Amino acid sequence: MRAVVYDRYGPPEVQRLEEVARPVPRDDEVLVRIFATTVNRLDCATRDANRRSGPAIALISRAVFGIRRPRRRILGSELSGVVEAVGTNVRQFAVGDQVFGATGIGFGAHAEYICMRGNARIAHKPIGLSFEQAAPICDGAFNALACLKQAHLKKGQTILIYGASGAIGTAGVQLARQYGAHITAVCSTRNLELVKSLGADAVIDYTKEDFTRNGQTYDVIFDAVGKLSFRRCRGSLKRGGRYLATDGFRNLLLALRPWVVDGKKVRFPTSMPTKNDILMIKGLIDAGAYRPVIDRCYPLEEVVEATRYVETEQKTGNVVLTVSATS
Ligand SMILES: NC(=O)c1ccc[n+]([C@@H]2O[C@H](COP(=O)([O-])OP(=O)(O)OC[C@H]3O[C@@H](n4cnc5c(N)ncnc54)[C@H](OP(=O)(O)O)[C@@H]3O)[C@@H](O)[C@H]2O)c1
Repeated sequence: MRAVVYDRYGPPEVQRLEEVARPVPRDDEVLVRIFATTVNRLDCATRDANRRSGPAIALISRAVFGIRRPRRRILGSELSGVVEAVGTNVRQFAVGDQVFGATGIGFGAHAEYICMRGNARIAHKPIGLSFEQAAPICDGAFNALACLKQAHLKKGQTILIYGASGAIGTAGVQLARQYGAHITAVCSTRNLELVKSLGADAVIDYTKEDFTRNGQTYDVIFDAVGKLSFRRCRGSLKRGGRYLATDGFRNLLLALRPWVVDGKKVRFPTSMPTKNDILMIKGLIDAGAYRPVIDRCYPLEEVVEATRYVETEQKTGNVVLTVSATS
């Protein structure tokens, strides 16, 4: 089968298409023929051994993914496709089922085929979505959900979502609605209408207004794009408020410290996404309460161009790679 591989950490150009062996499903696995996948920030950070996140995170990244070179040669953490073969112990899926799912840091989705356990984060594709629309469901939603779970949001509480137009941000706005929170979304001018359409009650254009100086306070501030700091946001948090971080070693240390001032806490995502999470998100899509936002689609052959675009950190929502024709 064709797959995008990389054998050393580095820039987008370390990736190339190669013929590799097609995986064979074990008894508890399904073989999925992949029609679409994505390039996301997790792919980019892992491919570059998290070099931009500082030496501590870079070291952890190499310890997990391979000290000198990547142990797993194929990136790609989410996909949609059709079940082509089913292991003897799998009950949830049959040959021909249309599915979507996420492999997380297991990766492997930048390929024509992948094996996944039947009880892994894989579910039947929502009927109303194409394969291209279904591939990017998981990454932003799982990351946003892991953060929001830490906030213990209650109906009527206020949340400010910074970076509301990215993969995590667009998911965060839609998922925060499910908690009944009042949402203020922060993004640049070009994305204001989009985030309103996703359910934001109020919007702030950060090119025109600094939310930390307008006197408003929030129960939760969710930095969905890793561009803020707790220090900068502290004055905009209500007493007992929570600051949700998506990355940053400093935020991890702040979340671990045992003392708090004014009850204001930093929270870092700790939970791993589960099968229940993917089924919950599928339920929201089926009910018309959630939609993955897609910026651009590239063919698999253009993975380097797609990656360069993701690394501009300016994508709106998600970037999709089409792997196989759907007919
Ligand atoms: N995706 C993952 O798998 C993953 C996993 C773990 C952690 N993270 C971290 O989570 C963060 C967000 O990831 P993502 O995939 O959601 O990001 P993303 O999709 O790449 O975010 C892109 C969006 O960020 C906005 N943006 C860019 N610079 C900004 C700035 N200075 N201030 C405010 N908004 C800005 C841009 O919209 P505007 O033009 O509207 O500003 C753009 O639409 C990153 O820090 C990433 O490292 C990601």
